[in-house]
Amino acid sequence: MNSPEFNRLRNLVNEHILDYMPVIDQKCSTLYDSMRYSLTAGGKRIRPVLMLAAALMCKEKEEIILPFACAAEYIQTYSLIHDDLPAMDNDDYRRGMLTNHKVYGEDIAILAGDGLLSAAYEIMTKHMLLFMDDPERLKRMTRAAFELSKGTGVRGMVAGQVADVENEGKACSEEMLTFIHANKTAAFIKSVTLAGGYLGGADEQLQNDLKTYGEHLGLAFQIVDDILDVIGDEKKLGKKTHVDEQLDKATYPALYGLDKSIDIAMSHLAKARDAMEKYYDEAEVFNCIIDFLESEIIR
Ligand code: IPE
Ligand code: IPE
Ligand code: MG
Ligand code: MG
Ligand code: MG
Repeated sequence: MNSPEFNRLRNLVNEHILDYMPVIDQKCSTLYDSMRYSLTAGGKRIRPVLMLAAALMCKEKEEIILPFACAAEYIQTYSLIHDDLPAMDNDDYRRGMLTNHKVYGEDIAILAGDGLLSAAYEIMTKHMLLFMDDPERLKRMTRAAFELSKGTGVRGMVAGQVADVENEGKACSEEMLTFIHANKTAAFIKSVTLAGGYLGGADEQLQNDLKTYGEHLGLAFQIVDDILDVIGDEKKLGKKTHVDEQLDKATYPALYGLDKSIDIAMSHLAKARDAMEKYYDEAEVFNCIIDFLESEIIR
């Protein structure tokens, strides 16, 4: 990402991501190894960085937000382990490495995903227990945790993943395709920008702009992912391409063709950019993700 602040925040997440691992009994050391394998396999860290950037706009302290940001990355990592399972997308590579189940087996991969998801809530609530004497901050943290659980659960990412697998091999309507993308990917991304705003104590205007940005960036993010499955480079992406076509997934290129998909992605990116325009340099991190996605699909 072409932004020193994005890279600084990504490095901060990478430095501390394992600090939040719950202590796991030695008898289950495979579980620890498997969770650590995927947590440290790389990844762009877009979600935790967005959460940090949103809260930092309101001048909240980094150390207060970091556990929430890392918790979001635990959820992201769980979602990818499960998404790659043979029963889902059956992928062999992720973040430039073998997928979790290829290394540890399906049973451990499923459980590592479960472990990461529960750990995310353990991390957030353990941190919240430190703020019992600070009701204002506790209230903001409660809102943030609620937003994240909504965005990644049965009203968000999980619902989208269900619709994704159930629509394989079907003629998918425009409405259903929007539902899939809005839920499986945009809901989580919107929830991290909203959670960051809540954690920082954003005013109503900023909170609304974070919502609009998250919604449009999130949709564009999945459309770009679909496009890159067709035109992207496996080495750069760290995962196999052309898997959507093999599984006959409901994607933007499948429904609209490549050129129109690029236009739709660009128009969502423009709306995301508009939402944060009034913050000028303070929106550096938000803008650099837009720049990155645009550069990935411009031909
Ligand atoms: C992959 O997300 C899943 C999608 C929503 C397309 P990312 O592209 O953010 O994956 P990592 O975290 O960088 O590996
Ligand atoms: C997004 O969709 C996955 C999640 C919401 C976890 P994809 O299945 O397209 O993601 P990739 O292409 O495997 O990263
Ligand atoms: Mg999938
Ligand atoms: Mg997949
Ligand atoms: Mg994909």
